[in-house]
Amino acid sequence: MPPQDYWETLLDVPGILDAFGFGAQTGDVAELGCGYGTFTVPLARRIRGTVHAVDIEPAMVEQTLARARAAGVANVLASTRDVLATGFGVPAGACDAVLLFNILHGEEPVALLRAAAEAVRPGGIVAVIHWRTDLDTPRGPPAAIRPTPAQIAAWGGETGFLELAGPSFALPPWHYGLSLRRHGGAR
Ligand SMILES: C[S@@+](CC[C@H](N)C(=O)[O-])C[C@H]1O[C@@H](n2cnc3c(N)ncnc32)[C@H](O)[C@@H]1O
Repeated sequence: MPPQDYWETLLDVPGILDAFGFGAQTGDVAELGCGYGTFTVPLARRIRGTVHAVDIEPAMVEQTLARARAAGVANVLASTRDVLATGFGVPAGACDAVLLFNILHGEEPVALLRAAAEAVRPGGIVAVIHWRTDLDTPRGPPAAIRPTPAQIAAWGGETGFLELAGPSFALPPWHYGLSLRRHGGAR
């Protein structure tokens, strides 16, 4: 990832959290790949539940916890995990939502979506953002591996548990978002 200060100029964090409707009514949320904690603390500030943040890189987890401490935010639990190997470390169906932000260009997107589907309750959402594919962006993965909204919706369907909750939407300046809803399975 680019340096934190630059990374965080590329994202409208409050606008993105608003677009998914995260607020005081939101219970526990799991976050896959918290990185610098860019979304973790702002999200924790606005929800009644706990943010269960995970990252495969210990330094990212330490930084996220340090930001939470500095902000005086108590509802962040962060741990070092490879979600592909050991999941999110939360009980199945425990979360109102899971964040998959800037992560689905990797090699095993369906496995990541399956892990997210397991953590989220029926009726809850998997919130996805990614770099737009229809314009040049100053950062982001190469075009060849950037997923489109349609691709992500199809991968969600492959899990057997996730369906598109509505149309994808722009998250200016450089991202789009979409929500996948957890259904009961076997559709
Ligand atoms: C591009 S960064 C995005 C960070 C953050 N979601 C954001 O948008 O600001 C992706 C992060 O996911 C983490 N990551 C990648 N694969 C992972 C895995 N299998 N389990 C947990 N974390 C992972 C990386 O270490 C990195 O910090």
